[in-house]
Amino acid sequence: MINMIKLISRVYSLRPRLSASYSVTQSVIETGKRPKTGIVMLNMGGPETTDQVKDYLLRIMTDRDMIQLPVQSRLGPWIANRRTEEVQKKYAEIGGGSPILKWTNTQGRMLTEALDQMLPESAPHKHYVAFRYVPPFTADAFTQLERDGVQRAVIFSQYPQYSCATTGSSMNAIADFYKNRKIPENVKFSLIERWAGHPLLARVFAERISENLHRFDSRVRDNVLILFTAHSLPLKAVSRGDTYPHEVAATVAATMSALSVPNPHRLVWQSKVGPLPWLQPYTDDAIKAYAKQGRKHIILVPIAFVNEHIETLHELDIEYCDEVAKEAGVEQIERVATPNDHPTFIAALADVVANHLKNGPKLSNQFLTRCPHCVSARCQSSKQFFKQLISGVISE
Ligand code: FES
Repeated sequence: MINMIKLISRVYSLRPRLSASYSVTQSVIETGKRPKTGIVMLNMGGPETTDQVKDYLLRIMTDRDMIQLPVQSRLGPWIANRRTEEVQKKYAEIGGGSPILKWTNTQGRMLTEALDQMLPESAPHKHYVAFRYVPPFTADAFTQLERDGVQRAVIFSQYPQYSCATTGSSMNAIADFYKNRKIPENVKFSLIERWAGHPLLARVFAERISENLHRFDSRVRDNVLILFTAHSLPLKAVSRGDTYPHEVAATVAATMSALSVPNPHRLVWQSKVGPLPWLQPYTDDAIKAYAKQGRKHIILVPIAFVNEHIETLHELDIEYCDEVAKEAGVEQIERVATPNDHPTFIAALADVVANHLKNGPKLSNQFLTRCPHCVSARCQSSKQFFKQLISGVISE
């Protein structure tokens, strides 16, 4: 506990020195030195402008790791085309674009600042953003990292809870990048692919919820329903053995235990697309059903994404809070902000990476183990690739 408090205080003390214009960490700027350690931050990304929406949707709809459609090479582009206008409108309603890149860069700068202080032996640290569906892409990040001549590279998933559709897709993109390219011998790679149960991650959600609970009248506060909401997943993926649902549940359980309040809570799922069955109950249905049961005070907690994006700013704030909840007769609904640049969250990132750099493992057995019903040759070959990349074990 004392270590956690020290870590958070250290991150707090860094805050005033950070500026949005930094492109690399303070120590890289001050010393003019090449970064020694690269932190590659994986995420899906989001269109920064409405002009990027079409290509963004096209990349998602044709990524078989993310979504599987019949005759995908034709149906995927057709769906992307059809949905472009509607999705552009949604981005226009949240200010014209996704803030994921802005937040990821802020988190990366603050993280590497903290690491420079915590681990001078591996400094300077520099972050690299590797998005899956918009620039900067996976290939951009790894090309730059090689160019910078980093000696140690930590591939760090920004999805705390692993899914084969999200982190798994980014892993496959890294394997694709090195398919026709020599793996650099002078870079030591390692991988953090999941960190759902980290105590500081639970703590940041608990702190955010606690702040929001205080917006409710003290007479109803203990009965406010805490609805944790995460992006849903097709039931087909769940039945294959994707670990995402239980990892999300682990973050929920850790958050409730850190929060230590008498309030009831549930985990619900949002953002389903297409006609096939996905993990339920859906967030909007749950709001309506609870309103019918007489639950008129609700807090929504997006638990599976570390920065604001269209599903929080539009789906939760505009569609569910402003429309669904009002129509259902909910008296007060609050939406908890995502971790963004919360000092406890930056401390969580720093602790995850510092611990990993000091104690490993460089590659976990959990990552190497495929889903019991995985039939994807892509998953199989990318796990073999990571063994080779990180442990030097030649493919079997
Ligand atoms: Fe999970 Fe392939 S679908 S490892």
